[in-house]
Amino acid sequence: MGLITPNDFPNLRELYTAQLRYLLSAENQIVDGLPKMIDHAQETQLRQAFQSHLQETRNHVTRLQRLLGDLMNDFSDKKDSVLAAIISSGENITKESDPGAVRDAGLIASAQKIEHYEIASYGSARDWAEQLGLREHAQILQETLNEEKHADKLLTEISHTANATAAV
Ligand SMILES: [Fe+2]
Ligand SMILES: [Fe+2]
Repeated sequence: MGLITPNDFPNLRELYTAQLRYLLSAENQIVDGLPKMIDHAQETQLRQAFQSHLQETRNHVTRLQRLLGDLMNDFSDKKDSVLAAIISSGENITKESDPGAVRDAGLIASAQKIEHYEIASYGSARDWAEQLGLREHAQILQETLNEEKHADKLLTEISHTANATAAV
């Protein structure tokens, strides 16, 4: 009360736009990070899952740029430091393990943290798009959300096989 604080988000539309910019930064970091994860993964199924999600992730970038372009002519992203931290903790596990089943288990865990973070972020963005009456935005974000959920589910399935090997 009485305290004047700077307000970057005077309304939901501003908050929504910022969320798209954070997501764009997150997706760009994933596009950079996944090729390294593919290189470090040993299990064929895991490499394939990362590879196909890399293709999807490139589409996620394009979709976010399209949504931002629809709101304003400014495609700049906002650095998502949470995603950067998740990626760097995953890289530490990779550095400290030898190639094989245990490293694969670490890669899966790291990838699933990323997917869950994306699922939470896209869920909010989709809800906000709906509340703002941006129905096409909500549909596009739902498509991406479905792909993130699918990627997460596939990683759970792969981990059941891969972790059984890692425990031996
Ligand atoms: Fe994504
Ligand atoms: Fe993803």
